[in-house]
This record gives sequence, C-alpha cells and structure tokens, in this order.
Amino acid sequence: MAKSRLFKPMKIGNIEIKHRIVMPGVSRMRATDDHVPTDMVLEYYSQRAAVPGTLIITEANLLSPEHSGYTNAPGIWRPEQIAAWRKITDEIHRKGSFMFLQVMGMGRMADPSEAKKEGFTIVGASAIPWMEGAAVPKAMTVEDIKRTVHQFGQAAKNAIEAGFDGIELLAGNGMLVEQFLQDVTNYRDDEYGGSIENRSRFAVEVLQAMVDAVGPERVSVRLSPWSKYLNMGIEDPIPQYSDLVRKANQLDLAYLHVIESRIKGGDDVVSSDKLDFAYRLWNGPVLVAGGYNGDLARRLVDKEYPDRDFAVCFGRHFIANPDLVFRVKENLPLNAYDRNYFYTLKEPKGYIDYPFSEEYLATVKA
Ligand SMILES: Cc1cc2nc3c(=O)[nH]c(=O)nc-3n(C[C@H](O)[C@H](O)[C@H](O)COP(=O)(O)O)c2cc1C
Repeated sequence: MAKSRLFKPMKIGNIEIKHRIVMPGVSRMRATDDHVPTDMVLEYYSQRAAVPGTLIITEANLLSPEHSGYTNAPGIWRPEQIAAWRKITDEIHRKGSFMFLQVMGMGRMADPSEAKKEGFTIVGASAIPWMEGAAVPKAMTVEDIKRTVHQFGQAAKNAIEAGFDGIELLAGNGMLVEQFLQDVTNYRDDEYGGSIENRSRFAVEVLQAMVDAVGPERVSVRLSPWSKYLNMGIEDPIPQYSDLVRKANQLDLAYLHVIESRIKGGDDVVSSDKLDFAYRLWNGPVLVAGGYNGDLARRLVDKEYPDRDFAVCFGRHFIANPDLVFRVKENLPLNAYDRNYFYTLKEPKGYIDYPFSEEYLATVKA
C-alpha cells in the first residue's frame, strides 16, 4: 500500500514534502472577532500536522481592512495577526511539517453586517450582486485595483514574516480575484475587462506583486475553473483559464492548485469536465482537490499522472481526521465529518475533538 507515489517526497518551491497528501484551505470561523487566530486554531493545525512532512494550507485569510467581510476568519495585515500565525507556523515546523498561507479578498461576497461593523465598502469587479437582493458591490476603480495589488504584495511579505513557507492566492471559489476573471461578474470596459487578456490582468498583477515581494518559489495560485459556486460559471472556462495558467506558468510559481469540477465550494456535484487543459499548460508541481479518497488519490498519482509531480488535497476528510495521512497510508477507516460544525463560530466542538486512530496513537506512545 505504502509503495504508492502518494508516499514519495515531492519538491514544492523551497520545501520538500514527504508525501503527497495536502490539507487545502478550509474556512472554519474560529478566529477572534477582529480576525486573529487563537490558541485553539493552533491546536487544530498542530493536530493535522500529525505526520511529519505534511503540507498544510491555511483557511482563507482576509487581505486587508477594506477587503474583509468574513466573520471570525483570520487576516494577515496587522502585527497581532502576524504574531499569532508565527506561533502556529513555529509549531508546524517543530513537528517537521510545512505551511502556506491562503489569502483572499471577498469582493462581492463580503458579509454586509461585517462591512457595517468594520466600516468598509463592499466592492467587486463590477456592480453585480451575487444573488438577487444581495448587496450591490461598488465597481473598483483603477486606483482601488492598484492599491489592492499592492496589498497582496504586502500580504506575501507578512506571510513570510509570520513564518510561512509560502502564500497561496485564492483565485477561485467566487472570491474577488475570480470575480475579475469571469465574464459573469466582470462587465468592465477598461483594461481589466472586455477580453480574456484584460480579465486575467488583475490576477496576473496580484501574482506578480506577490512574486516581487517574496520570490516565485514561495507563491502559488488556486483556481476552480468549472465551479458554479456562489453563482459563478463562465460558459466556457477553458480559454480564460488557459490564458491565466499560461501566464502563471511563466512566473514559475511554487505550484498550481486546481479544484475538480465535481466540487461546488464544499459540496459534491455531478460533473465530468476535466482539468487536463490546465495540466498541459503548466510545467511545475500541481495540487488537485475535490472529492478525493485514498484510492482515487493513488490512482491519480500512480496511474493517471505517473510522470508528473501531483499532490492531492483532502478538505472535508482532513477536517474530521487529524491523522488523515496515517490513516490513508495504513488504509484505516476515516472518521465521518459533521457538517453541522463546519462553520460554527469559535466552537471547539467539531473542530479540535475529532479522534486520532488507536493505531496512530500506538505509534506515538511506542
Ligand atoms: C468547511 C469548508 C470550508 C472551506 N473553505 C475554503 C477556503 O477557505 N478556501 C478555499 O480555497 N477552499 C475552501 N473550501 C474548499 C476546500 O478547500 C476543498 O476544495 C473542497 O472541500 C473539496 O475538497 P474535498 O472533497 O476533499 O472536501 C472549503 C470547504 C469546506 C468544506
């Protein structure tokens, strides 16, 4: 079982992970009201670094006060946030594992009550609400865009100061950067809209700013080309996302992270659309997420892409299994995840109380 390439090391930027099971960003709403990760967040990630050499990507971090809007999500703009993350990355490194910080702007998905409380304006690529009756975002001006690009560069610097091995830009799942990428959310007629190249421009400028700040080997990007989550859904994503992947490839980033079409946010859907178009345009390591279990992950790395550097992300299973990597390697049954506690504010239940397997515990006691 353990002969699979899933348990062979792989180089990602400056680090070498010891196996190819990765924890992707999963938002859990357990930070403080003013967006600082707590000791409970530290405990949660520490548990999930049970097997040395694991790559953990944090839940999405808010970019800046003006791109906030997610209750009890962590952020990466204040010294207090950097210090709190530093404690967490120190712990993960002490356990021999690695950590990338995921960063996002919420754009039109910002929670209006958070916007009111924190005093910022909800913005987007264009003034298109995410559903009927939702807040109408203000279309960002070019000045807003330039300032935001700069903030992403600063976030990359802050992530490195916080001890992260790198930073992943969330350019999928309906968030701000994707709102620029897709024609269903971008009606602009300036240099940031109206053509494939123009719709990619914001994402490319953000990636360039992050690369300039910390170097390409510490920057990555996450895409969900096929997802219709949060009313996204460009009709034919292939030309748009091909343009972006091609440009990201030229930047020589640490990895490309893509989400399978069978996933809509954190839910399963039926779809057979493929990501091969992106793999063909990308030369470096790939992280892929969406509906994976041990068997599917082995098949992907051993049979489907035996000549490529692929790692597989497990989202929901990592929530419920702190020792997931051990369980997959040893073919042990997985704990079931409890959706009721995915997003319960500041709640330890369903967060740090999922049990380790007896078999894993026996190895640490031994
Ligand atoms: C509770 C929950 C929160 C999530 N939060 C994020 C997030 O912060 N950033 C992100 O890129 N994706 C997020 N996702 C999507 C996951 O990273 C992943 O792509 C999805 O769960 C599919 O993988 P899975 O089938 O292994 O669960 C979230 C999913 C769930 C279930």
